[in-house]
Amino acid sequence: MRILLLGSGGRESALAWKIAQSQLTEKLFIAPGNGGTSAFGENISLKPTDFHAIADFARENGVDLIVAGNEDPLVEGLWDYMADNLPGVPVVGPSKEGARLEGSKDFAKLFMTREGIPTAAYRSFTAGEVDEADRFLESLKPPYVLKADGLAAGKGVLILESLDEAKASLREMLGGMFGQSSATVVIEEFLSGIECSVFVLTDGNGGYRVLPVAKDYKRIGEGDTGLNTGGMGAVSPVPFADDEFMRKVEERIIKPTIDGLRRRGIIYRGFIFLGLINVGGEPMVIEYNVRMGDPETEVVMPRVASDLVPLLDAAARGNLGTLPLDCDPRTAVTVMLVSGGYPSAYEKDKVISGADATGDTIPFHAGTKRGVDGSLRTSGGRVLALTSYGDSIPEALERSFAAARKVDFEGKYFRRDIGRDLL
Ligand code: AMP
Ligand code: GLY
Repeated sequence: MRILLLGSGGRESALAWKIAQSQLTEKLFIAPGNGGTSAFGENISLKPTDFHAIADFARENGVDLIVAGNEDPLVEGLWDYMADNLPGVPVVGPSKEGARLEGSKDFAKLFMTREGIPTAAYRSFTAGEVDEADRFLESLKPPYVLKADGLAAGKGVLILESLDEAKASLREMLGGMFGQSSATVVIEEFLSGIECSVFVLTDGNGGYRVLPVAKDYKRIGEGDTGLNTGGMGAVSPVPFADDEFMRKVEERIIKPTIDGLRRRGIIYRGFIFLGLINVGGEPMVIEYNVRMGDPETEVVMPRVASDLVPLLDAAARGNLGTLPLDCDPRTAVTVMLVSGGYPSAYEKDKVISGADATGDTIPFHAGTKRGVDGSLRTSGGRVLALTSYGDSIPEALERSFAAARKVDFEGKYFRRDIGRDLL
């Protein structure tokens, strides 16, 4: 098969790594890819949201399957565009309507409420409803959770300690803090517990497979302090997500989600990412995403033992049938090397050394590029995800930390406490 993967992050590196291992893969293109994905296929300089150019490229290059890595093209309607303009070339991902599970928090909350899926109590408000929003805030206990309805590059959730701060932030959000994305604000009850990420691949016809469960580390500082980032590391499996917990997830969340989409006639043939919180042993949904997680994919893909390509192709064609999705029993961890200053301002274009000397540790490239002289250079905040296997979290971590010391670039930073909260 000839496969076109869209995206350029660590997630796409891990997907490319896995897709390239398949016997079925004749050719892999990554658009636009990064400084590392060229090891697994051919980088193509196309924007994932330039649907016209993507369809032209796919047609001219005999592409059989399109895999969307990130959410933007899906929320903008990639699936629908290709269904209309490139029939016969399926897309792994939801239709534009299905992508609203991530593209609109208000839509996602209403969907969960109607399907009886456990999630925090909430209400949504627009600019004309500030007084009602204030009254709703007054009815809640601190801290207060305010969410921009639309996409906000992972920054649209504010958690405020005092009622005054919450009321002030509400006004800023409705006033355009996140542009049109915060024209509607979801206010919800604060939930307390440990989070984890569950990934499901569905064919939109009732068939689904659950991928290995993971936990990511979002804050920049050790002990989960400081600013939120795109993710500083991840581990899989997650000890608290045991069989009993996962049975609850399947019965109370996965099945109703898949049934609810189907009953509404919403086409969804791709990954569903459930951002869950464990509240006293009971799973509740914090959010849906319509793609794999980053950096979770950098530990999930290494733990998928089965060939991924037949699963992707079958899901995109609407029939997973009896294809197995087997898991590697080992633990995988990833440690993200980031640019100094990230997630605030940081410098790019620093020469990276040692990325090809990490031994058994897999260096999944994120913000990297090749310089004109062929040297590997930083091109983003999150630079490399160093993934290792082990028989335990400490064993796998020790390998990733050893690799993290070998790779170098000016300003390199990484968290040394990934996975420690689970021990
Ligand atoms: P999201 O962008 O929806 O993933 O939210 C970002 C982060 O905010 C989540 O990963 C949680 O840590 C936190 N968060 C979101 N909603 C809630 C909630 N209702 N209760 C507690 N924490 C939350
Ligand atoms: N790791 C969280 C995300 O991909 O949104």
